[in-house]
Amino acid sequence: MWLNLSAFEDGLQTEFVARRAVYLTSTDSTMNVARAEAENGAADGTVIIAEEQSTGRGRFGRAWVSPAGQNLYFTLIMRPPLERLRSLSVVTPLAVCLAIEEVTGLEPRIKWPNDVLINRRKVAGILIESELSGRSVKYALVGPGVNVNFDVEESPDIADIATSLKRELGHETSRETLLAALMNRFEVLYNAATAGSEVLDAWRSRLETLGREVTVTFGGQTQEGLAEDVDVDGSLILCLRDGSRVAIEAGEVTLRLPAP
Ligand code: BTN
Repeated sequence: MWLNLSAFEDGLQTEFVARRAVYLTSTDSTMNVARAEAENGAADGTVIIAEEQSTGRGRFGRAWVSPAGQNLYFTLIMRPPLERLRSLSVVTPLAVCLAIEEVTGLEPRIKWPNDVLINRRKVAGILIESELSGRSVKYALVGPGVNVNFDVEESPDIADIATSLKRELGHETSRETLLAALMNRFEVLYNAATAGSEVLDAWRSRLETLGREVTVTFGGQTQEGLAEDVDVDGSLILCLRDGSRVAIEAGEVTLRLPAP
């Protein structure tokens, strides 16, 4: 069933986030549509929502499985000042967690920096792309994909590593209610987030990565160590074998040992 947009709007309590929505039954990727809209001057907070994506994409060039009418696929066009750009990768996964918790009672965790997990399987992923002009942000594209009513078990390629709210709950969730809750949470957190703020603490407290032995890969480089903490900007502090510490801004984390 397609999204009921007026039910979504009824739940929206935001000032600017999602106050302009572009709704598509099908597209290649909401990231592409959002980029074109942003280049054409779309307002801060504009959202592109699609029912299905033919080439939905994830981080590190991976595909994002995007079947029709079951999940949430959207991209927000944001125009933050440069000093707030990095907060998007803290605010967005936290907004997804809080919205899921509010609507379903489930308690998602976060794999640094912004994968949302339930029972160790991924329920949502977030792709953030930004375009700078000198030292100012032209726009940032914030693209979450949330597996809502998806029968993940029917996709053998991802069934072991991915989940959906339906899989966890045993019943469907209203996508309209969840989407509105997500936009509401996102705006509040975005307005409140500064380096080292309570928002960062709330994100940190959901990180299942901390205290674990991890391998981090980024830009062809791999580093192994203990994920000790995050700094005020959300970078991962890795304690290496020789006892030295490095702060990692972005990357793909693999947890190497089971949780204690
Ligand atoms: C990841 O975990 O690798 C990020 C996945 C992001 C998927 C979403 S779905 C909406 C938006 N459009 C895309 O093509 N990708 C993001």
